[in-house]
Amino acid sequence: MPTGPSSPPLRVSIVGAGCLGSVYAAHLAEAVELTLVAREPAGGPLRVGRDLGGEVREVTVPWTSAVPADAELVLLAVRSDQAEAALATLAPARDAVVVSLTPLLPPTRARLAATLGDRLVSAMAGVIAYRKGSHVAYYTPRSLPTRLGLPAERHAAVVRAFLAALDRVGLPTTAPHAEVPGIVAATVVALLPILLGVPAAGARSTRCSPTSRR
Ligand SMILES: NC(=O)c1ccc[n+]([C@@H]2O[C@H](COP(=O)([O-])OP(=O)(O)OC[C@H]3O[C@@H](n4cnc5c(N)ncnc54)[C@H](OP(=O)(O)O)[C@@H]3O)[C@@H](O)[C@H]2O)c1
Repeated sequence: MPTGPSSPPLRVSIVGAGCLGSVYAAHLAEAVELTLVAREPAGGPLRVGRDLGGEVREVTVPWTSAVPADAELVLLAVRSDQAEAALATLAPARDAVVVSLTPLLPPTRARLAATLGDRLVSAMAGVIAYRKGSHVAYYTPRSLPTRLGLPAERHAAVVRAFLAALDRVGLPTTAPHAEVPGIVAATVVALLPILLGVPAAGARSTRCSPTSRR
């Protein structure tokens, strides 16, 4: 397992090339051996730019339609209603730690854990990302680092290497914490009226799926 500066880069696969997955991919491409998994891989460069006038960067990443079997860590960045179906996409990486940026309520988390066991680690994204014309705009609030739940001891080194990679590419993190799954659930419940109300009010979708990016 890579831990030092001279070790081979961590093999990370991001499932979900939407708003959030694109921003994490564009950053992590500098620090890990990355694959970006989409159902219909777009193939072209990602276009991301910091909000409030940041320059739009084009970042070339390796696209694929399946998680490589030798992935050490998978970052799940699909919508909550897509999380269970995404298990099939994760299946080839039988040993990978699965860090879910997708907010999971306890029943869904339990169903995923029934398949993934202690490989499932809940997380809270430290990025706010949305579609803005032909690119993904994002910001990284100072008070919102990427937070991971406590991994099982046997996955601690992989998780440490992943957090170090995020820090290196300018996406701040904090130490893993056992309360993260509970905080994720509480946050989803608190935001539910807004999440349901915005589309009901007729707001345009800000999804960044490969098809909408073309
Ligand atoms: N955006 C944010 O600022 C933010 C912040 C915190 C947390 N989150 C959470 O992060 C998750 C992703 O958010 P988002 O804004 O990035 O959503 P999004 O733009 O809708 O992206 C989700 C992506 O996942 C893809 N996908 C779904 N199932 C897949 C599968 N089996 N294999 C490969 N790709 C698959 C979708 O493809 P299709 O278009 O083909 O369905 C879509 O491209 C959500 O759960 C959201 O609640 C988002």
